Amino acid sequence: MTDFKKLVPAHMQKLASYKPGKHLRQAEMESGVRCIKMASNENPFGPSPLAVEAMKAATGDVNFYPDNGVMELTARLAEIHEIDPTQILITAGSTTLLDILARTLLGPGLNAVTSKLSFIVYPIVTQAAGARLIEVPTLDDGYDLEGILAAVDGNTRLVYLANPNNPTGTVVDAGAIDRFLDRLPAHVITVLDEAYCDFASYFAAERGFDYSHALDYVRAERPVVVLRTFSKAHGLAGLRVGYGIGPAELMGYFARMKPAFMVSALGEAAALAALADADHLQKSVENNARGAKLLTPAIAEMGIRVVPTWANFIFCHVGEEARSLCQHLQENGVIVRPMTGPWGAPDAFRVSIGTPEQNEQFLGALKRARIPELK
Ligand SMILES: Cc1ncc(COP(=O)(O)O)c(C=O)c1O
Repeated sequence: MTDFKKLVPAHMQKLASYKPGKHLRQAEMESGVRCIKMASNENPFGPSPLAVEAMKAATGDVNFYPDNGVMELTARLAEIHEIDPTQILITAGSTTLLDILARTLLGPGLNAVTSKLSFIVYPIVTQAAGARLIEVPTLDDGYDLEGILAAVDGNTRLVYLANPNNPTGTVVDAGAIDRFLDRLPAHVITVLDEAYCDFASYFAAERGFDYSHALDYVRAERPVVVLRTFSKAHGLAGLRVGYGIGPAELMGYFARMKPAFMVSALGEAAALAALADADHLQKSVENNARGAKLLTPAIAEMGIRVVPTWANFIFCHVGEEARSLCQHLQENGVIVRPMTGPWGAPDAFRVSIGTPEQNEQFLGALKRARIPELK
């Protein structure tokens, strides 16, 4: 008999797999009620109608392999972001690019640095590459950049900064990132993960805040990779399209690590169409800002500590009863994300901002939940 354990490296045996938000059908089967999903920060309005049309039009060609270089979408993104196409790499969602980054730059004896209470894919990709992830304690529910600088050592190759951060929804302003990058040694590459940039930019304009000029670092040839995705504001999470923007030489190494034909033809067609649908994007970010304004005080009034959000979700510190509260919400037809396990906050849950109707349904279910403050 083959002893598989002996074949799999020790660091892989310890690896925990990614646990996504509960799927709608699974929750409905468990609870026996119709559910709405407010657990994975997806666009509650669905994809852009233009993207749906573009996918329909592209279906007749799916007997062909897609364009491995994703050239049309790359060219369009280069135009939009005013950078060279060689500085862009499109992958099946930005999580796969995180994996490529880690496999290219990390290995045994090396490390990456991030914050505690940040995106749960960072530990997975780092450990899968055989490296160590240093997680610096949070400051005011977000990133402690001084702490991160202090944790960087000669073996650090990557720093992951989710801006806004998932799950806490906090943001770091552009000036703070400028100063941080100036102090970082040259052997460290900063991953500026801007999956929620469309929501943050909208909030920043409303709140008079200097959010980000991440692409300027790339234009200035700094050791920075900016990650973006079509999964959030563009509403294409199910298609898997994301991308990175960084120094051309580095992106070239990542491109070699990318499995062939990673981005599907339907994904490319839909992403191109989504980029052309400014109305859908605007509707999504405006609805999100209105939802945040409604939900934040309404949740807080129920005795729950809420972190003000810059993204399309809200982090809620409930206390000990977080798990039972999430269960209660599901029984009342609302799936939220408990922050248990690798998220590291068993006393909290994260709720994605929905349509106005979904937000009301969530608030109603939350009110009905038996939390001590309401008894
Ligand atoms: C911080 C952050 N980065 C990246 C992603 C990845 O998105 P995708 O792989 O769907 O592009 C997410 C998704 O939840 C996220 O929260």
